[in-house]
Amino acid sequence: MRPIDPRPLAERLQSIPPFHVMEVVRIAEELESQGVDVIHLEVGEPDFPTSSSVIDRACSALQSGKTRYTDARGIQPLRDALSAWYRSQGLDVPARRIQITVGASAGLLLACAATTNPGDAVLMADPAYPCNPRFVEAVGGKVHWIKTDIASQFQPTCDALEIEATVADRTLMLAHPANPTGQAVPSAELERMIQWCLTTNRHLIVDEIYQSLSFNDALDSSLAISDQHFVVGSFSKYFNMTGWRLGWLVIPEYALEPTQRLAQHLFICAPSFAQEAALSCFEPQALHEAEMHRRELKSRRDLLIPRLEAMGFQVAAEPDGAFYVFVDASGITSDSQQFCAELIRETGVAITPGLDFSESLPPTWIRIAYTQPADRLLEALDRMARFIHD
Ligand SMILES: Cc1ncc(COP(=O)(O)O)c(C=O)c1O
Repeated sequence: MRPIDPRPLAERLQSIPPFHVMEVVRIAEELESQGVDVIHLEVGEPDFPTSSSVIDRACSALQSGKTRYTDARGIQPLRDALSAWYRSQGLDVPARRIQITVGASAGLLLACAATTNPGDAVLMADPAYPCNPRFVEAVGGKVHWIKTDIASQFQPTCDALEIEATVADRTLMLAHPANPTGQAVPSAELERMIQWCLTTNRHLIVDEIYQSLSFNDALDSSLAISDQHFVVGSFSKYFNMTGWRLGWLVIPEYALEPTQRLAQHLFICAPSFAQEAALSCFEPQALHEAEMHRRELKSRRDLLIPRLEAMGFQVAAEPDGAFYVFVDASGITSDSQQFCAELIRETGVAITPGLDFSESLPPTWIRIAYTQPADRLLEALDRMARFIHD
């Protein structure tokens, strides 16, 4: 039996924009079903496998019955291992303050839930990772977009925050480095913004999912500046474990106990076998592999950027890390969505229109994920050059 009237769903469902990249994905699937060789540069996940040492540990964890709920904060050895990992970076982050989460996604949701009341606003850079507004809205908050530009590395500046922030803005959310740009917050600005949050009594959430995937000098965690904010981490990207759904949240002392209580209510715990397996991430084999992959990503970045520039794309600035380059294609097209759809159809190269990341940038931006080996990247670049110049 059907209800008489359609039952209204929550208003937050109406504000979820579609992912423009889904059109590219749809065409890619259609082409692949016809046997066309598609080069995927649209997906935000590394192409490297999870370390075999992690997989072996997961298998033995499952076989030895590690299939039940764990402590809601995460298993103690993993929290200790993360604390030791921070210590190896010169940071004192006690295991007590580390909450194991179901990926960075759950860490972001938990941090938003811990800091945001209905009606509160969260300051966030435009462009941003497209799921961030959903975490804020899920807990009844609103996003206050801060427009950014090439000059500020697409990161907010303290000057902009001082001008734009209102009393409704209770929290600042940063990503360091960010998706879609791969750009970190310059260290002087990071320090100023952390100070600004402290002096204006605002919460701060820093997403550091790409911190270990930095290419220039080792990128300091924001925890080197202060321990009074939330920091989100994940096994997804640096340890190539996207499907394992494992991350962590460093919780500031002032929010510790109630945030942990909320985590228990929302998630019970992160997958137990994945937590056991992740212990191997901090052993020599997996660390060596992760480091080799980081270097490989750097060399892919260095291979890609000059060639994209020669083709007429404007690269915002050299990405500090992650595996994305955000380019302005205004010298080539006035509509990057149409450009991406035609490019995939004509050449089999899949890239992401910038519209998925920004409310305010002109519709000429594109994100390219260098998540393919160098020979495939070169092949993609050749196909793109032919498409643009023919
Ligand atoms: C900036 C950023 N934060 C968080 C996430 C979510 O990561 P996880 O797989 O750990 O949930 C992503 C995934 O692409 C991301 O790019």
